[in-house]
Amino acid sequence: MNQTAVAGTVGEWTARNFRCVVVVEKYGIDFHEEASVPLEEACRQRGLDLDAVLSELQSAAEPRQAVAGDWANVPLRALTKHINARHHEYLKLELPRLRQRLDRMATRHGARDAGLLSRLHTAYCNLQEELELHLHKEEMILFPTIDRYESAAENGYRVAAPPFGSVRNPIQMMLREHDGATETLRQIRVITRDYVPADYACANFRAVFASLEELEADLLEHIRVENEFLFPRAAELEKSLLG
Ligand SMILES: [Fe+2]
Ligand SMILES: [Fe+2]
Repeated sequence: MNQTAVAGTVGEWTARNFRCVVVVEKYGIDFHEEASVPLEEACRQRGLDLDAVLSELQSAAEPRQAVAGDWANVPLRALTKHINARHHEYLKLELPRLRQRLDRMATRHGARDAGLLSRLHTAYCNLQEELELHLHKEEMILFPTIDRYESAAENGYRVAAPPFGSVRNPIQMMLREHDGATETLRQIRVITRDYVPADYACANFRAVFASLEELEADLLEHIRVENEFLFPRAAELEKSLLG
């Protein structure tokens, strides 16, 4: 097959998500200025191997597949491990990357999208700050308590009540924070008009919207797994251990 025809333009690749932006930037291609340049041409100018760049882009462009699991029955330790590896690590990488891009867009973009960008920037910064704290609380307080309960149940140890009284207390807080994040995601969807960029939107906008939409899907699944499986199971386990 003709690779040039398959390759498309730089902007067509980077409109898919930020992982593609990271790939082209790694090769010194300015995805904003060179959005309309065929990828083959951008590679030729730099003496890059088109097949190698293309193969990296193809794997970066793969949509994140949902991970199915028997979350009602797997050990809780396996569930907290899955949430950390699949969702927390993703957010830790993606949240600052999107913030950096939005900060840059807020200073560089003209009056045409100033209102949208400013509302998006404010909503996104709220989401990022709340989520970073939220992940920290889950990883430092809640998840270790759940893992400790499970080890005690498996080994028949007695376990003391945690300093915060009951696991239900941090769970209540996490549930409220999940509601807050869901509401902010809803606002971002309204601001971006369902993540559809305007016809004139530049490469930055397209990459940001695509990544935000991916982040929304990931976060809603993350929240669902915690709300429907992890939290109720942890509260039940505590009841069986502490009464
Ligand atoms: Fe989480
Ligand atoms: Fe959470």
